[in-house]
Amino acid sequence: MARVLVQGASRGIGLQFCHHILKTKPESVVIATCRNPDTASELLELQSQYDRKLRIMRLDVTKEHDVKTVSELVGSQPGGLDLLINSAGMLHPSGKGETSLKDVTPEGLLATFQVNTVGPLMMARYFYPLLASGGAAFGKQAAEKKQKHNGVLVNMSAKVGSITLNGLGGWYSYRMSKAALNMATKNLSIELGRGQKKVICLSLHPGTVNTDLSRPYHKGVPKEQLFSSEHSVNCLMNIIENATLEDSGKLFNWSGEAIQY
Ligand SMILES: NC(=O)c1ccc[n+]([C@@H]2O[C@H](COP(=O)([O-])OP(=O)(O)OC[C@H]3O[C@@H](n4cnc5c(N)ncnc54)[C@H](OP(=O)(O)O)[C@@H]3O)[C@@H](O)[C@H]2O)c1
Repeated sequence: MARVLVQGASRGIGLQFCHHILKTKPESVVIATCRNPDTASELLELQSQYDRKLRIMRLDVTKEHDVKTVSELVGSQPGGLDLLINSAGMLHPSGKGETSLKDVTPEGLLATFQVNTVGPLMMARYFYPLLASGGAAFGKQAAEKKQKHNGVLVNMSAKVGSITLNGLGGWYSYRMSKAALNMATKNLSIELGRGQKKVICLSLHPGTVNTDLSRPYHKGVPKEQLFSSEHSVNCLMNIIENATLEDSGKLFNWSGEAIQY
């Protein structure tokens, strides 16, 4: 039985990860966290279909207390965690990325970093012991029954966080928060890749996906380049299922290609 935790599961890509795993891995248990379970209508609907296979827990990723409490609750059950996906993210508190320097505020920067960067790293800090005692249900070695790692940690990142590929500028808060998240993934891959109980750490870019986050920009995206969350998550799960320790610390495009930081 695989145990998976999806952080930021109320809607968008996080919600679709829950759908996908419950549908394709019927033996798994999914713990879906979100900051307002009572209003997460699509997640509640999914729970009505899967009952005890889907457990919903309240977690605001900007609150360390929530992260710690949920880690203790999940840790009180046997089996550790096989996969943790940090999906919660925001472009900017205004809903739109800054287009010029005059739009940049300390409040906007810090709020974006809290959700996109600090939150995922705190999740890693508190959930690492559970991932270290996971049963390697995801990753290439799992499929080949040659276990070299225990758990897999996924940080949902973005190609615009690549410093090398930044040709347009703008979106200061979002770009910087995802660049820093990629650094966190790299650091984690080094520390959690040591010793007997290893964790594969990945940063993933989902493509441009038809969700609330990208909605203000949909008009400018050619139809074939605006992915459904189903398509994007199918591609991302393929990367997760085939990941090895050699992939750990890298940023991957939805297509499976490594992206330069
Ligand atoms: N969509 C894209 O085109 C795209 C492209 C590149 C990267 N990504 C990345 O993919 C990830 C998922 O994005 P999405 O498109 O699914 O976005 P979305 O549909 O806007 O969903 C954002 C999710 O983040 C949650 N969230 C925000 N602040 C939170 C907090 N403080 N604590 C807990 N949850 C919080 C939201 O919860 P509430 O419902 O409570 O607000 C919601 O579940 C993000 O990390 C994003 O940066 C997306």
